[in-house]
Amino acid sequence: MAVREIIKLPDPVLKSVSTPVEQVTEDVRALLDDMLETMYDAPGIGLAAVQIGIAKRLVVIDIANEEEPPDPIFLINPEIVWWSEETAEYEEGCLSIPEVFGDVTRPAEVRVRYQDREGQPCERQCEGLLATCIQHEIDHLNGVLFIDLLSRLKRDRVVKKFTKAAKQAKEPA
Ligand code: NI
Repeated sequence: MAVREIIKLPDPVLKSVSTPVEQVTEDVRALLDDMLETMYDAPGIGLAAVQIGIAKRLVVIDIANEEEPPDPIFLINPEIVWWSEETAEYEEGCLSIPEVFGDVTRPAEVRVRYQDREGQPCERQCEGLLATCIQHEIDHLNGVLFIDLLSRLKRDRVVKKFTKAAKQAKEPA
């Protein structure tokens, strides 16, 4: 396993629509393991493959808190097949947009269909933080960031700040 570099805003890679994984091979499992290690190292509770520059429909999640044993969830080609009408608001953040947080309203409960690490088809009913996290990560697979769900004013301010920082980092000292 290896910790990979996390792609940050405003890298256009984050806008890519990820492609489905055709076959769950050892390479795919190795990539999922790298994603998990990268997420734990950050630390974060969810990571999509596109955030390490690989636009494939792969997600890792672990919402266990510090007192609980690790509980990694591997999702290959996840898709939401049902949403509740009831919504929930969470303050979200993203490893690709460090130190930015914003309240996002999403369906409170979702049912997600995916393949697990072994390639087995699965379905899982999710609520609470897990439901929010899964929706946030699936958005990544479609090139959508949580700041795209905030007001245009707030989103533009964040993009501007990161664009400026990236430009400054490129300029010679
Ligand atoms: Ni994110």
